[in-house]
Amino acid sequence: MKKRKIILDCDPGHDDAVAILLASSYEEIDLCALTIESGNQALEKTSRNALNLVQYLSLDVPVAKGEAKPMVRDAQICPEIHGESGLDGYEFPPLYKKCVKQDAVTLLKEMLTKDEYTIVATGPLTNIGVLLKKYPEVKNNITEIVLMGGSIGFGNVTPAAEFNIFCDPEAADIVFTSGIKVTMIGLDVTRKILITNKINEEIKNINNKVSALFYPLMKVFIENQKKVFGFDGAPLHDPATIVYLVKPEIFKTKFMNVTIDVSKGPSYGRTNCDQFDYLKLKKNAFVVLDVDVDAYFEEIKNCIKKY
Ligand code: BDR
Ligand code: CA
Repeated sequence: MKKRKIILDCDPGHDDAVAILLASSYEEIDLCALTIESGNQALEKTSRNALNLVQYLSLDVPVAKGEAKPMVRDAQICPEIHGESGLDGYEFPPLYKKCVKQDAVTLLKEMLTKDEYTIVATGPLTNIGVLLKKYPEVKNNITEIVLMGGSIGFGNVTPAAEFNIFCDPEAADIVFTSGIKVTMIGLDVTRKILITNKINEEIKNINNKVSALFYPLMKVFIENQKKVFGFDGAPLHDPATIVYLVKPEIFKTKFMNVTIDVSKGPSYGRTNCDQFDYLKLKKNAFVVLDVDVDAYFEEIKNCIKKY
């Protein structure tokens, strides 16, 4: 089987952590690198979380530390959902694994100069924005960018904006206007895939090394989503990118024009998705509209059972 080579650009983060463990469990995917940025927590913390996960899962995958700040605006973090560490809920053993010497943008440039990759992005798009600005020639070797971010409807940090895009609207604008194939999985879909305590208990009963990590992490994630949004379950946003790559048939998508609001007004960071083609602008993104929720959680469970 020809595996799809991916680079996962992320800010772990509870749901980023699940994306990492899914990416490394699917035989259809070859997880070639993790590039990290600030987002759910400051860069030092998100990088440490990535290293802890890679070490825990015994993955032979380079981890590169990326951008500490968005391209234009001030850094945003999200401790109310992901905690002080960015991955509250599990005490990892002592950490020996280290980041590679290159920064994320340099590693991305080196890899994309030699080969083609799909980029999966589950954090703010800063690393990719900086990459495309500095080295636009690598575009030709990016097969596709599949990202979690944005929303057709409501935001989750402002009425209009979703966290990843809100963190770095200017980087998102570079990505969406790059001409690269972009698939966007936004809140409209990820707020349907709520991991509940019931599903978390079922996963606990898988009773292996990964379920032992997954369960306490998700417990904190579920509690925090309840506190902040009043949800009875936590939207398992980021792993949708990985499931989408392997099982696109459980998602419904539509090709449309998406523009990023970079106006710095009340809708700063909004993804304006022209679902009904009002503006007759050039279509530039496949936007996911729907997902088969049961099939999604079956995938999550099956991946965890593989460990
Ligand atoms: C996104 O924001 C982060 O907190 C999550 O990890 C996810 O990538 C959801 O808005
Ligand atoms: Ca994330």
